[in-house]
Amino acid sequence: MPGAIHAEGLVKTFGDVKALDGVDLDVPEGTVLGLLGPNGAGKTTAVRVLTTLLRPDRGRATVAGIDVLKRPQEVRHAIGLSGQFAAVDEYLTGRENLTMVGRLYQMSARQAKARATELLERFHLTDAADRTAKTYSGGMRRRLDLAAALVVSPPVMFMDEPTTGLDPRNRQQLWEVIQELVAGGTTLLLTTQYLEEADHLAHDICVIDHGRVIARGTSDELKARTGGERVELVVRDRQHLPTALEVLRGFGGDGATVEQHTRKVTAPVTGGARLLAEVIRELDARAVEIDDIGLRRPTLDDVFLSLTGHVAEEPGPEEEQAGEQAGEQADDRKPAPVRKGAAR
Ligand SMILES: Nc1ncnc2c1ncn2[C@@H]1O[C@H](COP(=O)(O)OP(=O)(O)OP(=O)(O)O)[C@@H](O)[C@H]1O
Ligand SMILES: [Mg+2]
Repeated sequence: MPGAIHAEGLVKTFGDVKALDGVDLDVPEGTVLGLLGPNGAGKTTAVRVLTTLLRPDRGRATVAGIDVLKRPQEVRHAIGLSGQFAAVDEYLTGRENLTMVGRLYQMSARQAKARATELLERFHLTDAADRTAKTYSGGMRRRLDLAAALVVSPPVMFMDEPTTGLDPRNRQQLWEVIQELVAGGTTLLLTTQYLEEADHLAHDICVIDHGRVIARGTSDELKARTGGERVELVVRDRQHLPTALEVLRGFGGDGATVEQHTRKVTAPVTGGARLLAEVIRELDARAVEIDDIGLRRPTLDDVFLSLTGHVAEEPGPEEEQAGEQAGEQADDRKPAPVRKGAAR
C-alpha cells in the first residue's frame, strides 16, 4: 500500500536546470522522512510539487491517498505546510495571523482565538502576540509561520527547513513539538541542512543531489554504509597538521580530512583501540603534540560528505580556503563531538 506521501518519477525542469530528475518517494503513515541534500539539490521543488504549488513535467504523486495533480484542492485540505521562507502577513499581529488561519479552516471565532493563544504560548510569542509581524525578528517570524502550519493538525505535514534561523533553545523546542505531532499520528516530510536534526527526528532519510535520490535508508543504515570508525585528532600547533595528516594516511586513512580552524584531522580507519595507540606512538615519534584524540563512529555528516562530496552547510570563505591549503575537503563547520582528554 502506498504511504501517506507517495511519489513516482517526478521530473521538473527550469530552463537548463533539472530540479527534479525522476524522484521516487514513499513515506509510511505516521513516520518522518528527512529529505537531505546540498543547496540547489531539489528539496524545495519536491516540497512544492507535493503540496500542489508546482506542477511537475512528469511523474505522479499522492498525498493522504489523494492524487496531487488531479485533485489539488482536496490535497490542500489534508496538508499543512511551513515553507522555507516564512509566509506571515506583515501587517497583522501574531495573534491575528493565527486566528485568520483558524477561520480559513472553518473554526469558530472562539475556537480560532483559543487555538491562537495556545500556539502563541507554545512558541514563546505571547509577549509579542499583539504586535504586527513586521516588528518581529527573523526567528520570531519563523516561529509564527510554524505555529500557523499547526493551527489545524493535518494528517500530513511538510516542513521546509523548519529550524533554519532558530536559536538552540527554540530549535530544541520545535523538535519536541514535532515529536508530539508524530506521536499523535501525523506523517511528516522535513527538509533540513542540520544533519543532527534528521538524525534526531527522521525515521527514514533520503539524500538527493541534482534532482536525483542518491541514497535512502535509516540513519543507522546510511552510517553503516559509510564504513567503520574514524580517528579524530586535534594538534596543538597548526603547523603540525600536514605531519598529522601524513601519519593518519599511513594507517590507511586515505579519506582523511583537515579542518584548519579547529586544527583537526579526521580519517576513516579500521583497527580500533590498538590502532589508536599506534597512532599516538607515531605522532610522539614525530614530535607532534596533540590536544585531543579519539575514535568515533561515523556521523550523518560523514555520510553526507562521502555521498555528495561536500558538507551540508555551505562552507564559509575561511573553511574553503582551509580545504584548499590542505589539498583536502574542508570538514563540517560545526565541530563534531570530540571526547575531551581521551589521550594526551
Ligand atoms: N522557479 C524557478 N526558476 C528557475 N530555477 C529554479 C526555480 N526554482 C528552483 N530552481 C532551480 O532548481 C534547482 C533546485 O532548487 P530547489 O529550490 O529545489 O533547491 P533546494 O534543494 O531547496 O536548495 P536549498 O538548500 O538552497 O533550499 C536549483 O538549481 C534552483 O536554482
Ligand atoms: Mg530549499
